Amino acid sequence: MSGYTPALMELIKKVEATRPARVEKARKGEHFPALTMNERSEWLKKYHPDYKSEGRRAIRVGPNKGLELPDEVASLLESKSRLDTSAISLGKADYTVDLLVIGAGGAGSAAALVAEEAGLSVLVSTKLRHGDSNTVMAEGGIQGADQEGDSPYYHYLDVIGGGHFSNQPDLVAAMTNDAPLIIHWLESLGMMFDKRPDGRMMVRHGGGTSRKRMHSAGDMTGAEIMRVLRDEVRNRTERIKVLEFSPAVEIIMDEEGRAAGAVLYNLETHEYYVVAAKAVVIATGGFGRLHIQGFPTTNHYGATADGVVMAYRAGVKLNDMDSTQYHPTGAIFPEQNVGLLITEKVRGLGAQILNVDGAQFCFPLEPRDVESACILRECLDIGKGVVTPTGRHGVWLDSPMIDALHGEGTVRKELPAKYIQFKRYDIDISKLPMLIYPTLHYQNGGIAIDDRSRTTIPGLYSAGEVTGGVHGRNRLMGNSLLDVLVFGRRAGINAVEYAAKAKAQGKMTLSHVEKYNKEIDEAGIKSESLSPVLLPDYAPDHVKARQRG
Ligand code: FUM
Repeated sequence: MSGYTPALMELIKKVEATRPARVEKARKGEHFPALTMNERSEWLKKYHPDYKSEGRRAIRVGPNKGLELPDEVASLLESKSRLDTSAISLGKADYTVDLLVIGAGGAGSAAALVAEEAGLSVLVSTKLRHGDSNTVMAEGGIQGADQEGDSPYYHYLDVIGGGHFSNQPDLVAAMTNDAPLIIHWLESLGMMFDKRPDGRMMVRHGGGTSRKRMHSAGDMTGAEIMRVLRDEVRNRTERIKVLEFSPAVEIIMDEEGRAAGAVLYNLETHEYYVVAAKAVVIATGGFGRLHIQGFPTTNHYGATADGVVMAYRAGVKLNDMDSTQYHPTGAIFPEQNVGLLITEKVRGLGAQILNVDGAQFCFPLEPRDVESACILRECLDIGKGVVTPTGRHGVWLDSPMIDALHGEGTVRKELPAKYIQFKRYDIDISKLPMLIYPTLHYQNGGIAIDDRSRTTIPGLYSAGEVTGGVHGRNRLMGNSLLDVLVFGRRAGINAVEYAAKAKAQGKMTLSHVEKYNKEIDEAGIKSESLSPVLLPDYAPDHVKARQRG
């Protein structure tokens, strides 16, 4: 008995027929050849959604005016503020703190912790619950060059190569140099990494890595990171306050042009709160729930680009905002799992990608954009994909190879969450392959920062997926969990320094919001939408009602 239909079970026989020979080759270290650099760029141009002109248009307002962006992002940035600025009194703040951190995933929590350690009073505001974020959903691992034979130098080269040399070098240097410190910090907070019997870290390859440096905690690495960070933040109640269900809707500036706080919106009481702060960190995560180009997503429910909208209105430029990461292996069967992440660790453990004939058609650990382009080509161009009962196209990810290569029980031990996620639908992934297709995974671009997590606005810092530059136009696996912690900590550290020197705050103002609304009118834009949207537009009606206030 299996959750697959009889027709799909028939097709699986083709995968099983080619498996013994593939396993034998893999044991000998023989692999399907990787694409040449020329092939890579040719296939990207032909098949990757980022390289197509459909679904994109030039933004008509703001600091990146004229830049081609995905329609979904352009619409968001061409919407007026959801805040009626005339109804907000900035005269008396509801909360006054040294540091306001907007967002309580990995980056926000890391920023709050280091700022608190330096004695700052910190308010953390978050749209949903503390930890609801892409960090907590991350599966496969975190990179860090802390093993013999590796160094931040090789890590740096891999990141730059993976990003097709479009990365901001100072940010890459900061991230790769801090990585060993971050791994050590996480362990000191109590994180339980996968270890070898002798106590050394278990490390693996990810796509596009020249050394094994992926550290993991099963296939729930993000959940384990978030567990220790959240515990730590929640233990420091004297100086850190966390406000849940209270997304920020606009940054507040002072008359000197510095960040001075934010307006929060309580999703439960529908009240607005004014927060005055000496410094502000935006760590609101990415835009997966905008479903760019109609793709399903791996992202958490609140990933609606709120921070990008707020910073852009305040005058901060965006980097690489036209670049979207489609993770090659999103589930497409059963229907309940569509879009969910199948971690790259599955391929890191040896599982191969196969077409409807059970044949390999690409090296399984190409950089993500290239791997996705290969799958899109096989399904949409060559016509060698598998079609599901609801008409979706996909290819096989041969997970049973993992037990064949490493011994029975490896899938259950190394991928417990994935095993359960499919077992629920009577699919045992240690015995049957999974059906996969690219899924929207990551916002490659975002708010421009420097290597101290500073934006161009004094007192305004930003960290994590909401920012753009470190990964260039393609992020490698395991560098997101690293990015959030490196730049979250740097935001906290530098905010401490800034807060210590900051002159007394000038009068608070939302005039930048009014100016931006006016620019929209002057550009002749007639949009009825408001932003930030806070929740995806398929939210149930009672949730949308709350969101509207
Ligand atoms: O495939 C994965 O486990 C995803 C990791 C990442 O995006 O870094």
